[in-house]
Amino acid sequence: MNFRHIPAYQRTIVVACITSIFTLTALAQTPAAPATPTTPAAATSKGTPAAAAPVNAGPYVPSPETAVAELLKLANIGPNDVVIDLGSGDGRIVLTAAKVYGARGFGVEIQENLVKLSNEAAKKEGLAERVKFINQDLFKTDISSATVLTMYLLPDTVNMLSPKLQKELKPGTRILSHDYPLAGWQEEMYRQFDLEEKVQISGVKTTIVYLYIVPARVGGQWNARVSNTVLKESLRLELRQEFQKISGIARIGAREVPLEELKLRGTELTFRIPVERSRSLNFRGEVNGVNIEGMVELSGARTPWSAALVK
Ligand SMILES: C[S@@+](CC[C@H](N)C(=O)[O-])C[C@H]1O[C@@H](n2cnc3c(N)ncnc32)[C@H](O)[C@@H]1O
Repeated sequence: MNFRHIPAYQRTIVVACITSIFTLTALAQTPAAPATPTTPAAATSKGTPAAAAPVNAGPYVPSPETAVAELLKLANIGPNDVVIDLGSGDGRIVLTAAKVYGARGFGVEIQENLVKLSNEAAKKEGLAERVKFINQDLFKTDISSATVLTMYLLPDTVNMLSPKLQKELKPGTRILSHDYPLAGWQEEMYRQFDLEEKVQISGVKTTIVYLYIVPARVGGQWNARVSNTVLKESLRLELRQEFQKISGIARIGAREVPLEELKLRGTELTFRIPVERSRSLNFRGEVNGVNIEGMVELSGARTPWSAALVK
């Protein structure tokens, strides 16, 4: 059964059911959070309100090992990756990323016993130099060092995190979400498979892992430089961007030409400019802040090009 092909209203019901089962599981499995001190003294003598208890972003339900393996495979993890798991449970995602792929990283978790367990496992497996687990609220965690961010959290929480992900993660960072999509984001890929263990967790066997890539910021006007063997006139790109969606035109001298097949995948920008009836310039470039560098292909010949952001 492909979840995506279920009509929207049925999907809503499925998600609602999953949410309530997940929440009931939470009540059954998660020890009650320690009560936040609410005495006047705890509210501090300066009158600052006491810190609110962390939002419970999801009960402790470990991802089945098969789901962990699929998730890490989808992320194409390597030894240069920094993996952060938000709500790390017993640490299995970060530990497996380090053990199997040689990655580094950390997990944050509000349940102290799970943090202890994860750090002990890291030590036992000789991974403590590369991974660690911190007893910390995921909403207050600096995630900017991630190259891969993973989460298995309640659907509402996943969406609550969206602004934080957009603000803090570097372009090109891979985000993997187990079972719940990020509303408004276009996934790069997803994998769907059945797992018996999931029946106890969510009432259905269906498991989905989603991969998203944080897009570079490309909206604005860019002055491009290309070899004059490719284009004799000046070239300016005008790009409009709404998060992952982009559109734009090229100004070639005084002419305005729509950009074709414009795509942004993390920091990789590709587009085509038709120059003559049957000839097109095929651009590929790597966005690095206010600069783009790459290669342009015309009739099989490739030459470098670059662009600088004007405004
Ligand atoms: C569904 S489990 C996922 C565990 C692990 N990531 C995995 O996939 O196996 C969600 C975890 O998030 C933790 N959690 C919930 N709210 C949190 C918060 N505000 N900050 C940090 N951890 C949190 C829970 O204690 C739980 O262990």
